Amino acid sequence: MERDPIAVIDYGSQYTQLIVRRIRELGYYSKLYQPGELRETGNPAVVILSGGPRSTLEEGAPDIDFEYLLSLKVPVLGVCYGMQLLNQKFGGSVAPGNKREFGPAILKNESTGNCIFTGMSESSQIWMSHSDTVDNLPQGTKVLARNDEGVPVALQWDETIYGIQFHPEVSHSTEGMTLLQNFVEMGDHLPTFEIASFKDHLVERVREEVAGRKVVCGVSGGVDSSVLAALLHEAGVETRNIFVDTGLLRQNEAEEVKALFESFDIPIETIDASEQFLTALKGQTDPEEKRRIIGRLFVKIFFDAVGDDVELLAQGTLYPDVIESATSGSIASTIKTHHNRVDKIMELKKAGRILEPLDELFKDEVRALGEVLGLPAKVVHRHPFPGPGLAVRCPGEVTEDKLKIIREADKIFIDLLHEHDQYDRVWQAYAALIPVKTVGVKGDERCYEYALSIRAVTSEDAMTAEWAKLPYEVLGDISNKILNEVDGVNRVLYDISTKPPASIEWE
Ligand code: XMP
Repeated sequence: MERDPIAVIDYGSQYTQLIVRRIRELGYYSKLYQPGELRETGNPAVVILSGGPRSTLEEGAPDIDFEYLLSLKVPVLGVCYGMQLLNQKFGGSVAPGNKREFGPAILKNESTGNCIFTGMSESSQIWMSHSDTVDNLPQGTKVLARNDEGVPVALQWDETIYGIQFHPEVSHSTEGMTLLQNFVEMGDHLPTFEIASFKDHLVERVREEVAGRKVVCGVSGGVDSSVLAALLHEAGVETRNIFVDTGLLRQNEAEEVKALFESFDIPIETIDASEQFLTALKGQTDPEEKRRIIGRLFVKIFFDAVGDDVELLAQGTLYPDVIESATSGSIASTIKTHHNRVDKIMELKKAGRILEPLDELFKDEVRALGEVLGLPAKVVHRHPFPGPGLAVRCPGEVTEDKLKIIREADKIFIDLLHEHDQYDRVWQAYAALIPVKTVGVKGDERCYEYALSIRAVTSEDAMTAEWAKLPYEVLGDISNKILNEVDGVNRVLYDISTKPPASIEWE
């Protein structure tokens, strides 16, 4: 009989979610819990205490119910903060660090015979990020490894209770995955995680939660809502899929979404609201106001279409959103859209009328689920696209003329990225119109036309981003084609701004 998921206790490190993902990559089912939720982990196969930004020496620092932890009688691994906490609990102490140690170090493994190091080299690179360090070690503690300065970075207090002062989940810890696997596999009856069988579990879950109710689902053509609709379809649930065409979409997007759904025999209702959106945006230049107008109108159009007595609204909320709202206590902070929608969703949530079957999955797992459900690669590997659409790529007033330019340039850009095999290498790419006319020459005439910015970024999670180092030839091809084929543009610029300080979108 499989045990409950591997429990990762979240002490707030920026890498905590990554531990959960890495364990799932190893093929085992893992979930994140807050420090006060230890008893809710049930019968976990192993427990990992994550790193965190606080000091265990601070008053009110997050704690662990140590007695309960020991009573579980399962292997435990403390990472950074987790290691310091365990060292204190076993009767040792922690010393305040006077500087933050951040970056690579060398792990010198002193106990090659220990099974946590099986298959690892005697010396390998690790990634550190901490300030406090363990000081007095409780009697009987084994030091299994030190860094190149002789500081203990791996401890063992008990047969299956370990601590490490580095982040095995980060790819810079070159043998980190081996260590994680060695540790996790100390557990017995490990619950497995494999997307094809997880799909079956989700299908069951959806059927149970829907319990014969009618489901409404807002679809956008993006990965999450497409996978959601395909999952509901697979579960045989009767669903109204509503697609609001805001007119702020990419070239042929509305037709492509429709064709995709039809090819799966999934019903889709398209509401063409482009005129309404353009009219509402007329004369508006303030970015925040533009977003508010779009958000408000979207909610109105959507709920006018579905009526107020929605039995069940399906949403493509992902695990990081759930974790974020559990930590910050509010779902509002994670929803990049107008509060009308948030209010409406909170109301439905309270009434038990929200269905969020993707809420345990990370983005790459949703993509894998999409593949298992048979969605085409083009959909599953699609770049993110903002809710307010091309409006955030059209600074100043949004007009049909400007949207036409953005759409045409965007299509050329994206098609060429595919052609040059660069599309899947970047997180997101798009064209934005700079609302300034600059001088150029076309034929023998001087002409004043818009400048366009093209932007391609690499990123892990959109919180930070690097501009993509696209080959010059590719950039040259893109620029030439845009200048030759898009009327109204005589200058193309490549945006080389990192996030921060620039955001990914223009507005
Ligand atoms: P920024 O521009 O904040 O974007 O660096 C980070 C990621 O979020 C997307 N984005 C949005 N998504 N509604 C959305 O659903 C929005 O209002 C919105 N604004 C930005 C953006 O495309 C990027 O992937």
